[in-house]
Amino acid sequence: MQIKEFSKNEGKEITVQGWVANKREGKTLVFLVLRDGSGFAQCVINEDSIEAGAYADAKKLTAESAVELKGTVVKDEKQVGGYELQVSRLQVISIAEEYPISPKEHGDSFLADHRHLWLRSKRQWAIMRIRNEIIHAIHNFFQSEGFVQMDAPIFTGNACEGTSDLFETEYFDKTAYLTQSGQLYGEAMAMAMGKIYTFGPTFRAEKSRTRRHLTEFWMMEPEMAFYDNEQNMDLIEKMLNSVLSDVLEKCQSEFEIIERDTEMLKKSVVKFPRLTYDEAVAILKGEQDVDGKNAIRTLEADLGKVKVNMERVSAEIAEREEKIAQPGIKKGERNFNQNKIDQLKNALKDLEEDQRNIPNWIESAEKFEYGNDFGGSDETVITRLFDVPVMVYNWPHKVKAFYMKRDDANPELAKGVDVLAPEGYGEIIGGGERETNKDLLIEKIKEHKLPMSEFEWYLDLRRYGSVPHAGFGVGLERLVCWICKLPHVRESVPFPRWYGRLLP
Ligand code: 4AD
Ligand code: MG
Repeated sequence: MQIKEFSKNEGKEITVQGWVANKREGKTLVFLVLRDGSGFAQCVINEDSIEAGAYADAKKLTAESAVELKGTVVKDEKQVGGYELQVSRLQVISIAEEYPISPKEHGDSFLADHRHLWLRSKRQWAIMRIRNEIIHAIHNFFQSEGFVQMDAPIFTGNACEGTSDLFETEYFDKTAYLTQSGQLYGEAMAMAMGKIYTFGPTFRAEKSRTRRHLTEFWMMEPEMAFYDNEQNMDLIEKMLNSVLSDVLEKCQSEFEIIERDTEMLKKSVVKFPRLTYDEAVAILKGEQDVDGKNAIRTLEADLGKVKVNMERVSAEIAEREEKIAQPGIKKGERNFNQNKIDQLKNALKDLEEDQRNIPNWIESAEKFEYGNDFGGSDETVITRLFDVPVMVYNWPHKVKAFYMKRDDANPELAKGVDVLAPEGYGEIIGGGERETNKDLLIEKIKEHKLPMSEFEWYLDLRRYGSVPHAGFGVGLERLVCWICKLPHVRESVPFPRWYGRLLP
């Protein structure tokens, strides 16, 4: 039986297989926190009610040892998951060597090196379950809307999103590139199916170690024939609303484990504000307010608050350190204060980061030049004024990909849209309407210095039955990162790849 089914089996005798996540010993009792992949549960082994050999075995169990337990499920609200197993039989499957990951804090690079084991930790377990549910919800949404899922090739002969971050590889006697996006193939398939979506790995040789960049990430890209960018934005909204509702409903306990405030997510099940690029720039530069809030003045006020908070936290750390330095302080009280000090030091680190970041954000916002693409900090400044995702549309065509449709009313603009997630996360989706004018496309392909011969097939889509069409790409890891409120996109995928990282 799986631990997640304990609630339906109260009072019954069952057998469960799993790993020892934690062990504690009492006088005549051994307490295990067992994890079996479906959940975590406390299992109690009582010296008086189990055969002597088994009790000795229980005492020998190390972290991550594997066992099979037989016992009775009893309700206990104090325990993880609300149920406990009173063990009547224990069988050891394997005894683990000394496990490198302990409950104490580990550094980022240590955890990254041990990702193959770190995935078993409760927090990582919960994140991966939420990721799974997000994927499931995305498929559900598109399938129920009549989209056909398609797989785009990984080896490609051309660039889709610019030539600067291509991964090159040998392809017999030719050069191939790992795909940056399935979109161009999606456009071809949309002309066969009407509405399609791809869901697969994409690659970008980004030499950046930011909290939003991976070199390998999963992208979901719908493409719809006969859609303009307005309809595209309507679909983005409907999809995100549907995914959020599903995940909020199905992943409550996982959100509790990772301590995600789901009220923030519930707020996002709404219509999203739509800003033109021009409006977004005015907001960024503090020339236009949002609900009475000014981007620059809010940042300045926040910087003031950060300073006050840093003083308060530092004072409390000093006070508690003095307390635990006193001779004769009880162990319990010392531990309690030490824990508090550790928490406060973490909070102080976050505040110090804000203190470093905010002045840079203010400077880059004030200096932003109209016509440029937004950088990560610009997105942060804009999204801090909203509690929900915002859609920025009508971009200068110069900063967007070659395939973006030029706006008939203003040829300087392209009908692209970026979706910026709140809470400082920034771009999670990019998309837009596609250029249908063959001559403009040819001009753009040349301007972007792309090899024309590789795009002949793409131009065929404009030669034969060309129709208005649009689509977008959701970066799965960025979406998971925001939904789980992770500090770093690296925690949103089982085995992340980023600049320099190829193991495990
Ligand atoms: O904005 P991008 O570059 O758009 C495209 O690739 C289009 N072809 C999509 C389309 O219209 N069909 O990338 C789309 C999304 C971004 O919004 C971001 O969420 C994610 O992909 N993304 C990355 N995620 C992690 N690491 C990276 N290096 C990423 N680059 C883009
Ligand atoms: Mg983009």
